[in-house]
Amino acid sequence: MLWAFSSPRNGTVHHQLAPKIAALDYKKSEQSWKEKPVVLTEANYSKKTAPPAQLREMENTEVVKPETLDELIKILHEIFESDHINVDEVKAVMEAYESNPQEWKQYAKFDKYRYTRNLVDEGNGKFNLIVLCWGEGHGSSIHDHTDSHCFMKMLQGELKETQFEWPDSKSQGDMVQKSQRILQENKVAYINDSIGLHRVENASHTEGAISLHLYSPPFQTCQTFDQRTGHRTTVKMTFWSKFGERTPFETTVSQENN
Ligand code: SIN
Repeated sequence: MLWAFSSPRNGTVHHQLAPKIAALDYKKSEQSWKEKPVVLTEANYSKKTAPPAQLREMENTEVVKPETLDELIKILHEIFESDHINVDEVKAVMEAYESNPQEWKQYAKFDKYRYTRNLVDEGNGKFNLIVLCWGEGHGSSIHDHTDSHCFMKMLQGELKETQFEWPDSKSQGDMVQKSQRILQENKVAYINDSIGLHRVENASHTEGAISLHLYSPPFQTCQTFDQRTGHRTTVKMTFWSKFGERTPFETTVSQENN
């Protein structure tokens, strides 16, 4: 079984994740709390908090391994009840979920011409969870994230992420590339506006790719950037489907993935 650690959160939510099994281990020996990997599953997950003394000893927050996509969504709901979000914790819990196509295929709807955005869950208004389907050669424009967190987990295939610096308002030239990486199945990438801007592409000519994005707070518009000039445009984000159902065509055309 897989287990994962992330750094502690300031708020109280990681207390909720402290499971009974971990508290019992701690009683045996103070050291064991720090050293023993704690395997958490939905079965042994309990909302009971560990005593404060034990929590002070904790250097890591245990992350429940979601056994299914539904379990992942349930855990994310709990995490996002708090107003303080620990990025490492969200990354760890999303990464601990092992992609199973049976669980997300109802949302995986491809379009021939551009990548699709398929809403899975509205996260009680705190986040949007979206399955993105990228046909061969499909990609997004360089864009920002409207002051939100962006977590991106690969469900199938590979995507190339290129990060850019924000364009200098005075300069007119090419945008500055910061980094480039290939995101592999089950891995989770994170970006926000203080890190920079990015573009995501399916570089494969033969395989589609599918990713699971979490945006918090949810946003409906973002800015896209022209790589050669840094010129920006505000665009509306639309969904190709919601909860597995095709959304009716809108009168305005979405531009986020032109
Ligand atoms: C991306 O990160 O490239 C996807 C943007 C989107 O949500 O449409």
